[in-house]
Amino acid sequence: MSEHPVTPNPDAVLIGEGMTGGYGGADILHNCTIAVNKGEIAVIVGPNGAGKSTAMKAVFGMLNLREGQVRLDGKDITGLTPQARVGMGMGFVPQTRNIFPSMSVEENLEMGAFIRHDDIRTTMEQVYHLFPILKDKRRQAAGELSGGQRQQVAVGRALMTKPSVLMLDEPTAGVSPIVMDELFDRIIEIARTGISILMVEQNARQALAIAHKGYVLVQGANRYTDTGQALLADPEVRRSFLGG
Ligand SMILES: Nc1ncnc2c1ncn2[C@@H]1O[C@H](COP(=O)(O)OP(=O)(O)OP(=O)(O)O)[C@@H](O)[C@H]1O
Ligand SMILES: [Mg+2]
Repeated sequence: MSEHPVTPNPDAVLIGEGMTGGYGGADILHNCTIAVNKGEIAVIVGPNGAGKSTAMKAVFGMLNLREGQVRLDGKDITGLTPQARVGMGMGFVPQTRNIFPSMSVEENLEMGAFIRHDDIRTTMEQVYHLFPILKDKRRQAAGELSGGQRQQVAVGRALMTKPSVLMLDEPTAGVSPIVMDELFDRIIEIARTGISILMVEQNARQALAIAHKGYVLVQGANRYTDTGQALLADPEVRRSFLGG
């Protein structure tokens, strides 16, 4: 099986549909579609260089699409800046440089709330409730924390704008299996509060196990799309992308 067209659920909270484009040179994305339903977890997997991060950047408005459309709650947001998207309820944790290392944990969270003019203390307490270690370390420079704790800071920072959709690019990169399980539990907890999660993961098996929907991208195109469970059970997907 090769590239296939994906028809997203029209009620999906966030849809990047038929996205084609790149960084100015040759196209990286080819008619690529990804979407997430309300309160669900959608996971994007695929080989290195498949275009997973590029698809996330396209959905967040960091890339000019030649073709395709991004819709949030049914509204066409294709032409909006990332900052405008944050204002509409999108949060994004990029794959790299997702914290300010020399600033304290608490300052990172405050920076996350940059677009807000109301009282952010309740949200900060919610983040500390979700990630208690961050409260203990709130005065410490974020760069001094462990890898897993830095990822907690990055996720917490994105939660500070009270997003309805949270986009995470490899939130468990470089952490131990135990820390990965712990982070996935927190991500499930976030989704249970009604926040939709669109996430790229290199720990494909574990991520698909918690995914309502999974997307396997190869060379910027949709290769397989199904429920997380169905992808995990598919012999071809297992053989080609999950190590057997
Ligand atoms: N800023 C950029 N400018 C030009 N090309 C880029 C840029 N970022 C990525 N690319 C290219 O786009 C393609 C897809 O890269 P992308 O980072 O989206 O892949 P990925 O699936 O996220 O990979 P990984 O698993 O390593 O994170 C690659 O060929 C990469 O070299
Ligand atoms: Mg990437």
